[in-house]
Amino acid sequence: MSARFVIVGTDTGVGKTIFSAGLVGVLDGFYWKPVQAGLDAETDSQVVARLSGVSAARILPEMWRLRTPASPHLAAQLDGVCIDPLALEPPECAGPLVIETAGGVMTPLTIDTPTIDVLARWRLPVIVVARTALGTINHSLLTLEALRRRNIPICGAAFVGDEDRAARDAISRMGQVADLGRLPRIAPLTQENLRDAFANAFALADLLKGYPPCLS
Ligand SMILES: Nc1ncnc2c1ncn2[C@@H]1O[C@H](COP(=O)(O)OP(=O)(O)OP(=O)(O)O)[C@@H](O)[C@H]1O
Ligand SMILES: [Mg+2]
Repeated sequence: MSARFVIVGTDTGVGKTIFSAGLVGVLDGFYWKPVQAGLDAETDSQVVARLSGVSAARILPEMWRLRTPASPHLAAQLDGVCIDPLALEPPECAGPLVIETAGGVMTPLTIDTPTIDVLARWRLPVIVVARTALGTINHSLLTLEALRRRNIPICGAAFVGDEDRAARDAISRMGQVADLGRLPRIAPLTQENLRDAFANAFALADLLKGYPPCLS
């Protein structure tokens, strides 16, 4: 079985999709966004297709595509559909798989099911993507605590944004988590620039260390 990673965020908009695109590219892997909420702008799958450099066939179809850019439970309600969390199973594929969750770990898939319940069932190693901006220590430590409480394996924390060494040190020490590296702001955000920045920021060996199961 190839490596399978779940990319979770400390919040929405922290850089999960850009990190995922970099990781899929460096692994020459597959990408899966189980639930996409919001279809008017470029979807996360389309961003990864554009920035990762992998072929379109490696972007696996979402299980739920919802029109409204909102929490999945609400977007589903507005579309008149019901997400069945038990139906969410990582697809089989012939290579490493990167799965990007929606929002943060407590983001509801239904009013009764936060995303983290599905992660607890899967027991796949997660990479926590965190901002470096103010507020990240609190969000990151809360996310790590919630994951640990459910015995979800954690590969480490990956940071996105301008350098904040003090915040990273606090998170890795207080959260007892590996600091995998930091992806800086990339401008312009092109496939080539992302590939280079990702290779500079993260050592593939660190990301794959102990896989499986990356228990921390
Ligand atoms: N390293 C970076 N350099 C430049 N822009 C970035 C970088 N990382 C993220 N961004 C930008 O920040 C915004 C949010 O990033 P991204 O879409 O990856 O977040 P997300 O955590 O996947 O959000 P969501 O919860 O909606 O899936 C996007 O406009 C993205 O292009
Ligand atoms: Mg995203």
